[in-house]
Amino acid sequence: MPQVIRSKYDLKAVIKNIKSKRASIGLVPTMGALHQGHLQLVETANQHYDVTIATIFVNPTQFNNKADLKKYPKTEEADIEKLSATGCDVIFIPEVKEIYQKEVTIGLNFGYLEEILEGKHRPGHFNGVGLIVMKLFGLVEPTGAFFGQKDLQQFRIVSTLIADFDLPIKLHLVPIIRETSGLAMSSRNRRLNDAELKIATTIYSALHLAKAQLIEGYTQEMVLDNVERVFREENGIELEYFEIVDEETLLSKTKVSEGDRLALCVAAFVAGVRLIDNIIFEYKECKYR
Ligand code: PAF
Repeated sequence: MPQVIRSKYDLKAVIKNIKSKRASIGLVPTMGALHQGHLQLVETANQHYDVTIATIFVNPTQFNNKADLKKYPKTEEADIEKLSATGCDVIFIPEVKEIYQKEVTIGLNFGYLEEILEGKHRPGHFNGVGLIVMKLFGLVEPTGAFFGQKDLQQFRIVSTLIADFDLPIKLHLVPIIRETSGLAMSSRNRRLNDAELKIATTIYSALHLAKAQLIEGYTQEMVLDNVERVFREENGIELEYFEIVDEETLLSKTKVSEGDRLALCVAAFVAGVRLIDNIIFEYKECKYR
């Protein structure tokens, strides 16, 4: 059974003990409501480091929409069981008042990353993500940390923190785990019924349509027009954005060339639930067009 810890004081004692044995630590930060995608992070952490520490904390400062925060699923008992079955060693589950003992005075600004994709549509979100990730890094002192590809921009934000603060932490990006329907696993999927889950698969179909059309030589404009049409024609889903970007910088690609590493990034609402997804690939022109 993993050790379940709720206070920073107890966590610090555990970390001190781990460090005294010179054991390495893999950190898996989560907001709970765990699914196979999270467990994949834990399994990967187990393979790389001596001790795996998962955190479960629904971080209020990263929710720009307070209704979304209220509705965020909480399944602590089931989460502990899943983490236990996956070989996690320590689970840190603090209360909000434990983490935010006083009002935070610092603000983090990630430059252009705030103006694009999630940054553009969720003002303040990455400040909240940056704050909690820095707090967890400070508390856990991990050797490595694991984040899912579904939140690709979040990964770039955390890479920025590590680079700008010279943190001695290795970052790991773990691929998206999908349902058999193609829908990216997400804690938010729990808020959808069967019919809505089916509608949500439009997101994955659109990503693949866009990739196929780019490879066939359609211009970005044509691809984006076609994707928008797919969303318009499907009832019950509303596209927020769909963008063709450079995988590394996440900046929009106005022209794609052989060998470019591209990410197609999308956000859409189904029954008021905001879902994001992406695919990453190397652009190779189709030789037979
Ligand atoms: O990806 C998430 O679940 C959250 O943004 C994280 C990294 C746990 C910070 O609250």
